[in-house]
Amino acid sequence: MKRLTLVLGWAVAQLPAAETPVPTWSRDIAPVIYENCVPCHRPGQVAPFSLLDYADVAKRARFIARAVKSHYMPPWSPDGPVGAFIGERGLTEEKIALLAAWAAAGAPAGDLAAVPAPPPGPTAGWELGQPDLIVRMPRPYAVPRGPDNVYMVFPMPFSLKDVAPAVLARARIPDSDALAVAAVEIHPGNRRVFHHADVWVDLTGQARKREAAEGGTGYLSFGTPGFPPAIYLGGRVPGITPRFLPDGIAASVLPVEGGDLALQVHYAPTGKPETDQSEIGIYFMREPVKRVLESVFLRSFNLDIPAGAAAFTVEDTLEIPADCMLLSVFPHMHLLGREVQADALLPDGTRRELLTVRHWSFPWQDRYFYKKPVFLPKGTRVHCRWVFDNSDGNKQNPHVPAQPVRFGPNATDEMCEFHLGIVPVNLAEAELFPAAREQKMRQKIDELSPEQRARFNWKEAFER
Ligand code: HEC
Repeated sequence: MKRLTLVLGWAVAQLPAAETPVPTWSRDIAPVIYENCVPCHRPGQVAPFSLLDYADVAKRARFIARAVKSHYMPPWSPDGPVGAFIGERGLTEEKIALLAAWAAAGAPAGDLAAVPAPPPGPTAGWELGQPDLIVRMPRPYAVPRGPDNVYMVFPMPFSLKDVAPAVLARARIPDSDALAVAAVEIHPGNRRVFHHADVWVDLTGQARKREAAEGGTGYLSFGTPGFPPAIYLGGRVPGITPRFLPDGIAASVLPVEGGDLALQVHYAPTGKPETDQSEIGIYFMREPVKRVLESVFLRSFNLDIPAGAAAFTVEDTLEIPADCMLLSVFPHMHLLGREVQADALLPDGTRRELLTVRHWSFPWQDRYFYKKPVFLPKGTRVHCRWVFDNSDGNKQNPHVPAQPVRFGPNATDEMCEFHLGIVPVNLAEAELFPAAREQKMRQKIDELSPEQRARFNWKEAFER
C-alpha cells in the first residue's frame, strides 16, 4: 500500500513537465526566427550574422534570448499605438519566454527533417517591379572599414529623356510643372553595409557644389542632406518593403525640368573594404492623381541642452488648418534623443495617441505609415514632446564627458522634429498646409533669443 502511494506521488510530480514539452528548433523556434529575424539575419542582408540554420541559431541561443528579452531585437522603436503601423515588428511575451526556455534547455534541435522551409530571400530585382526611371550613383563609393558609421550624401543627376512620353504624359499634374511619383524604391548596391537611406530632390545644385568642394565621391552629412531640400522623395530602412500608397495618392512629385537627386546613406561598416553603388527606381503615377502626400511639422530650434541634463524636454503644438487624413509620422532627433510622444486633441475633446517611443534609436528611425489613415479635423491640436538625455549615462552620447549641446545638423548637435504626412480632404484647402508649414517655421525662429538667432542664417539653412 505504502509503495503504491509513492509511485502515485512520483507520477503527479512529473505531470507539469509533461504538459509543457521542451521547445525544439524544428517545431517551435524555426517559425519564430524565420518570421521575425531572418528578413535581416540572412546572408547578404544588413545584420552581422545569419540565423537561417539550426547551427547558426543554436550556438547563439543565450545571446538571442537576452537580445529579445531586452527588446533590443527585433528592432522596432514605437511603443504605441500598438498594432497601428504597417510593418510593425515585435515578439509577444510568450515568444520571448519560448526562446528563453529553448536556450535554457540547451537549444534542442528536434526532428530536423520536419523543419519548415525558410522564407524566400530578397528578390534580386526591384521589389515593386521595373521602375519607369532608374538613377544610379554616378560612381561607386568606397565605404571605410570602420569602426564608425558613415553618413554620406551623393548627388545623382537625372533626366527624364529616357522615360516613355506616354508615362510622363499620364503622370503630369494638370496646370503644373510637376510629375506625380507613385513610389520610390532605393535599391542598395551592397546590403552588407547599406543601413538606411533617404532621397531628396535638389533644384539648386548645392549638393553638387558640396561634393565638388570635398573633391571625392559624395560628401559627409549627418542629420540633414546639408542643404534645405526642395522635395523629399522617399527612404529605405532595413526589413521594410517599399510599397505604393492607396487610393490615387502620389507619394511625391518630380519637377519636369529634371535636376539632381540627393541620396543620403547611412553605412554601417563591416571591418572589411566594401564598395557601394546604389540605385533609385522611380515609379510614376499610372492612375489619375487625387492627392499628393505632403507634410506639416512640429519642431524646435530652441535646444540649448546643458551637460548632464538627463531629461531635457521640448514641446511643440500645431493646429491643423483644414480637414485632412494623416498617413504617416516621422520623428527625428539625433543621438541624445531618448523619448518622443505625440498625440492629437480633436475638436470634440477626444485624445488620440499618434506615436510613443520610449527608447529612441537613431539607427532605427523610420517614417511610420498607419494601417488605417487617421482623420484629423480642422482645429485638431497636435502636440509633441521630445526628451533628450545629455548625461554620461547615455551610451550614445557623442561627447565623453557630456558637453553642452545645441541645435545643428552634425552628429554632435541635436535636432528635434515631428513630421506629419497628410493629404487634405478638400482640394480647395490644399494651400493651407504649405502656409501652416511656413508659419510654423517663422514662429520657431521668432521664439529664439537674439543670441540663438545669430547662430545661423535660419531661413536659408533649415527651411523646408
Ligand atoms: C530589421 C532588421 C533586423 C531584424 C528584423 C532583426 N535584427 Fe538582429 N540585428 C540587426 C542588425 C543590423 C544588427 C547589428 C547592429 C545592432 O546590434 O544593432 C543586429 C544584431 C543582433 C544581435 C546582436 C546584438 C548585440 O548585442 O550585439 C542579436 C543577438 C540579434 N540581432 C538577434 C535578433 C533576433 C533573435 C531577431 C528576431 C527576433 C532579430 N535579431 C531581428 C538587424 C535585425
